[in-house]
Amino acid sequence: MFQLVYISKARIDLTKQDIENILAHARNNNVHNNISGCLLYFDNQFVQILEGGKSEVEELYEKIRIDDRHQEVLKTFSEISDNRSFSAWSMYYHELSEYEMKSLSEKLFVDNLSSLFYMVSKPTYSVKLFWEHVKKIIEK
Ligand SMILES: Cc1cc2nc3c(=O)[nH]c(=O)nc-3n(C[C@H](O)[C@H](O)[C@H](O)COP(=O)(O)O)c2cc1C
Repeated sequence: MFQLVYISKARIDLTKQDIENILAHARNNNVHNNISGCLLYFDNQFVQILEGGKSEVEELYEKIRIDDRHQEVLKTFSEISDNRSFSAWSMYYHELSEYEMKSLSEKLFVDNLSSLFYMVSKPTYSVKLFWEHVKKIIEK
């Protein structure tokens, strides 16, 4: 098993529909390639963790890296790991909802994510780093 974490900045004019298109395509492809993970979008930034076979993950990252729907794509870590951390999701996605945004209830958002994080038993270094990126974006 192989895990890879990257951060990037969404193209400035990216719409909700664009993100839905990315996700629909990603979920389809990922099931086919046995890839799982988590994608977070907040404040025009993406953080994603990908996991699966090493060659499948590296091949996918190469495609994602040159995707013009985002820029400044930076791989921050990758490692061989024993287990998957997000085996249940072909690509779990979280975005700050309108409600959370309007009520400025960032706590709710953070709580939702915390519960997600704690569902991951024995988090690997990649998962911890993914979480660190998420916190950094939220707290900025
Ligand atoms: C932020 C972001 C995350 C993405 N995540 C995935 C993903 O998890 N799986 C995937 O197949 N494509 C993902 N994509 C899309 C890829 O960049 C690429 O368009 C797609 O893999 C091409 O698929 P194809 O080879 O079937 O044409 C993502 C794109 C962006 C901008």
